[in-house]
Amino acid sequence: MVDVARFFTPKENLLRIIDCMAMLKLNKLHLHLVDGNGWRIEINRYPLLTEIGSRLVERPGQAFSERHNARQGEPTVEKGFYTQDDIREIVAYATKRHIEVIPEIEMPAHSNAALASYPLLACPIVDKYIGVLPGMGGSSGDIIFCARNDSVFTFLEGVLDEVMELFPSKYIHLGGDEARKTYWEECPLCRARMKAEGLGDTEALQGYFMARVSRYVQSKGREVMGWDELTNTDIPKDAIIFGWRGMGQAAMKAAKQGHRFVMAPARVMYLIRYQGPQWFEPLTYFGNNTLQDVYTYEPFQKDWTPEVKNLLMGVQVCLWTEFCNTPEDVDYLIFPRLSALAEVTWTQPVRKNWQSFLKAMDHFNDHIAAKGIVYARSMYNIQHTVTPVNGSLQVKLECIRPDVQIRYTTDDTEPTAQSTLYTKPLQLKSAQTVKAVTFAGDKQMGKVLVLPIGWNKATAKPILGANPEGLKLLVNSVRGSLKNSDFEWCSWTKSDTITFTVDLQKKEMLHSLTLGCITVYGVAIHRPAYIQVAVSDDNRIFRQVGEMHYTSEEIFREGAFVDNCLFPLNVEARYVRVTANGIGVCPATHVRPGQEARINLDELIIE
Ligand code: ACM
Ligand code: ZN
Repeated sequence: MVDVARFFTPKENLLRIIDCMAMLKLNKLHLHLVDGNGWRIEINRYPLLTEIGSRLVERPGQAFSERHNARQGEPTVEKGFYTQDDIREIVAYATKRHIEVIPEIEMPAHSNAALASYPLLACPIVDKYIGVLPGMGGSSGDIIFCARNDSVFTFLEGVLDEVMELFPSKYIHLGGDEARKTYWEECPLCRARMKAEGLGDTEALQGYFMARVSRYVQSKGREVMGWDELTNTDIPKDAIIFGWRGMGQAAMKAAKQGHRFVMAPARVMYLIRYQGPQWFEPLTYFGNNTLQDVYTYEPFQKDWTPEVKNLLMGVQVCLWTEFCNTPEDVDYLIFPRLSALAEVTWTQPVRKNWQSFLKAMDHFNDHIAAKGIVYARSMYNIQHTVTPVNGSLQVKLECIRPDVQIRYTTDDTEPTAQSTLYTKPLQLKSAQTVKAVTFAGDKQMGKVLVLPIGWNKATAKPILGANPEGLKLLVNSVRGSLKNSDFEWCSWTKSDTITFTVDLQKKEMLHSLTLGCITVYGVAIHRPAYIQVAVSDDNRIFRQVGEMHYTSEEIFREGAFVDNCLFPLNVEARYVRVTANGIGVCPATHVRPGQEARINLDELIIE
């Protein structure tokens, strides 16, 4: 699946992706054509869909997750769409290569681009401006098609008529994911529909909505597909379910009712996630799905009956493009992980072999490089793990490719093919900079990892509190980057009280304590509202030696940055305790209004 709604992939680039798919014997291309962030297909009957719905306000320099919604009347720029001729060309090109292009028209949610074009299709109680969303959308993401207004169904059928005319595919994907029912709960029309149809709740109302449109599509001789939220209520008859949340478990619910399904679990098959050590990757969302993670995925689970196995139609990777700004960004996230998908789908598990896959993939990569695709080399980068062990720091360096050598230095020089070969974790007892990189023989393969290991009074000392393993990150000397998911940040999901104590193991003169607090506005990570520092000689009786309060203006600043909160101490003590708490929920003006602000801390420095 390619999401051409968030970032519009030009036709030429899409054709090249199709070429590569054909080389890998991948036979279905799911096009996510419309979303809250853009409408990317020309519909003759509804010209505003592309006159308004393909345009967007500019938010220069801001990541998707940080962008505020458009204000009414704010100028927009064209972000692109496929004309009907483009679609015919794409479909013909793919058909020639034995690839079926499956269009997705999202409903009832992810529909702000359609509703910005035709606002009367939203519930009449929506009293705010509906614009195409430049980012997450906040509470505007709750604006969805009204489930009572018959014009909505006339509109969707009209759109689908043209879509079915353009795409001869056996399957039509109707979306159905992430529909928040805020407006449906309140809308008198939607409530009337629920009453008239005897629907117990708004989830059942979505079931009604999806079933009604499904029947229309099926009446034209096509089959219906949808995301796994369709299992939240009665599943439309014969609908094919895409398991995407977590490991795709919801698809099992459908399978048990006899529905066919496709596995596209976000945890392993979403290409939006980082494909390598995060310090080297462009900003994106969530955790990692490396080339090896994709390769290792096995859809069949031990507890699947033969009946369930028979209902699995295939496996899909999904490229969501929130963080893509150029066609090259799209290629980078797809390749080489698409090769791993081909192996998952075409190779018997017993025949899978990571090393031989890498060899074959290297040859394949030469072919796609000849086509002008710049594939990611993340597979050659080094993931570090620095862990306090008995007062020293253990530095582990790992690369997912077993056919490279890791070489490193600790004297600040650049590593070369003659530098020390890494064979086992290093044990450090003092400050030094570790620089490491992968080689294949004399050839440098990855990027140089630089680990500036400092040493302060807290470094590698025991740290006590709930989740002591996680807390070790605070005293491992490696500072988290501006990516909060880089495995260096100690994170709390709630604003509840946080408390941890460092045992310096002997009474010492302490001059200051510094606590690093990251702000990542787009994902609602903010500094604490309150931090207190207390010391003790016996870990029982503590005396407060510093505290700081932050105002909501200081907390809810935009951007991604680290604050070093400095507490002068000038006391003698053995135990140092930090207590902190968060501010609670993000305000209405935030890009994540009403969501609980999270706290991420790293590093704890005592001097
Ligand atoms: C999805 O990722 N919302 C299908
Ligand atoms: Zn309504």
